[in-house]
Amino acid sequence: MSYVKMNYPTEKPKFYAMVNQLLSTLMQDEKICTTSMANASAILFDALDDVNWVGFYMRKDDTLYLAPFQGKQACTTIKIGRGVCGTAFATKEIQLVDDVHLFEGHIACDSQSASEIVIPLILNDEVIGVLDIDSPIKARFDNDDLKGLSEFCDILLKSVDFSNYVIS
Ligand code: SME
Repeated sequence: MSYVKMNYPTEKPKFYAMVNQLLSTLMQDEKICTTSMANASAILFDALDDVNWVGFYMRKDDTLYLAPFQGKQACTTIKIGRGVCGTAFATKEIQLVDDVHLFEGHIACDSQSASEIVIPLILNDEVIGVLDIDSPIKARFDNDDLKGLSEFCDILLKSVDFSNYVIS
């Protein structure tokens, strides 16, 4: 596989259409969860402007564990219900946080982070982890990001069999 720098459209719906098409294409021959998440985080980190961290936390027991990501080193564990990630997991709802400093319990892994979006990964009605994206700019994410990133996660979950995913 060779890497070609993409020229992404600036308009968000078109941007996500292209990003999600790229993910679909890349996932066609992919069977391994960890490698899929690694490349998925790389696609987003490369494509999105103004982000400082993109990655996954995956559940084992009552804890989310750091999984493939792009950005600075991060907290390795987050208890379910804690922080933005743990809240998205516990509520099964996307967390769109315009200002992380106003989110009670926010876990500051990277002091650069100012806003954040966290998408729960839902497989057969069960949350198995989250996709977390941080930005150094306040209110970086909006409903177009929410929609596009939800589709991105759906493609990832449909492409690879996460039902036997194990953290060890
Ligand atoms: N800010 C997150 C922790 C994860 S880091 O941003 C990578 C939170 O409060 O859940």
